[in-house]
Amino acid sequence: MYYTKKRKIKKGPIIFIAVVIFIIILIIVCINLYKHYTSFEYKLGEAGYNEKEIKEILKFDNKYIEYAIENKYEDDFIPLLKQKYFIWKNYDRYIEYINDVYGDKKVDYEKVVSLVNVGADNDPYTHTKKTDMDKEYAILVNKYNSLPEKYAPDDIVEMSNWYAYPDNRIRQTVYDAFKEMSEGAKESGYTLIVNSSYRSYEEQKEIYDDYERNRGKEYADKYAARPDFSEHQTGLSLDIFSPGANMSNFADTETYKWLKDNSYKYGFILRYPLGKEDITGYNYEAWHYRYLGKELAKKVYDSGLTYDEYYAYYLDK
Ligand code: DAL
Ligand code: ZN
Repeated sequence: MYYTKKRKIKKGPIIFIAVVIFIIILIIVCINLYKHYTSFEYKLGEAGYNEKEIKEILKFDNKYIEYAIENKYEDDFIPLLKQKYFIWKNYDRYIEYINDVYGDKKVDYEKVVSLVNVGADNDPYTHTKKTDMDKEYAILVNKYNSLPEKYAPDDIVEMSNWYAYPDNRIRQTVYDAFKEMSEGAKESGYTLIVNSSYRSYEEQKEIYDDYERNRGKEYADKYAARPDFSEHQTGLSLDIFSPGANMSNFADTETYKWLKDNSYKYGFILRYPLGKEDITGYNYEAWHYRYLGKELAKKVYDSGLTYDEYYAYYLDK
């Protein structure tokens, strides 16, 4: 009789392979779960950020991601970090300023960053420090950064009547740069004349006190710096006009237009521009030019920033 012999399948190895596969799958699942629960995505989700926000946060440096994970959800976090001139050490002050000033209103983040960076989240002259004199021609002098007490530069020279109204003095380097700029202006058909230049501590005090006496403190602070806080006392700033022009009409002259866009080529910048009054702390001064040297003046001009903002972001290390 013919019959087929039943093959006996050995179960042992099959069970073994199945167990191995199961263990491998289990390990893979565990690794993936571990990865998931320890991932930035998961932790940011736990911190309260939604999918879109998480995608944005993940583009930032690790230190910012870790901050977002460790701290409570903050809806200003992403818009602030996306600002070009965001400075990490100012983060808490940005938040404080937003809470104080904006409440539920729509926040102008660019403005918040600018104002806080230059110190204008504090009232002028309330939080002052001595400026870093090692910066030389790049020193920052404003309502938050003062000169050393009664500072006076030691290379002040008299300006000739060819370039300035009588009794004007300035630092030699600045004078040389102004002469060059004056020639440049002449070649383009404009005449420059200096109306105010270096002012000693006492001279600046007299100007400020005069304003204060006649128009009150608030007005004085918009137009004049207090002594030790004026760029004129540095010997690096000049008030420049065309002959016959004055503070009320110089901004309308062709000479001003030339100066505003060409002075950087000679090392000067317009220091108190229109529309930046809350950043510089001063009314628009079409006539006030600050010497920085050619290289820095070009960088500041190209940045479109006020010198206060530029210094805070690029130089205040
Ligand atoms: N007018 C400028 C701000 C000064 O007094 O220095
Ligand atoms: Zn001035």
